[in-house]
Amino acid sequence: MSGAVARLRVKRGTPENDQGHQTFEVPFEEGQSLLDGLRRIRAEQDPSLAIRFACINANACKECIVKLDGKTVYACTTRLIAGEMTVDPLPNKPLIRDLVTDIAPRGDRIQDQA
Ligand code: FES
Repeated sequence: MSGAVARLRVKRGTPENDQGHQTFEVPFEEGQSLLDGLRRIRAEQDPSLAIRFACINANACKECIVKLDGKTVYACTTRLIAGEMTVDPLPNKPLIRDLVTDIAPRGDRIQDQA
């Protein structure tokens, strides 16, 4: 192992409680994806980090979409780098928490039974 680290600045919080970016460091390993890094943070540092994914690396579910340094990417097919990366939720979707936004099409949403 090289000893290099990936430094991920990850947006945290909810619409009611914006917590800004929190910085995590994970060991950098060649060939890892951004999603690998985020899952490692959740497994080893902060299980409360909210991320969404399903297929992990097949680019099939389309659930891992985030903003990376301002660009829209699939976290599972974007390579981790040995450096700093800033990760934000999609800005054009309602924020649920951290990196998770409401990406369900309008017709699929469960209606309130008020
Ligand atoms: S986790 Fe399914 S497309 Fe990225």
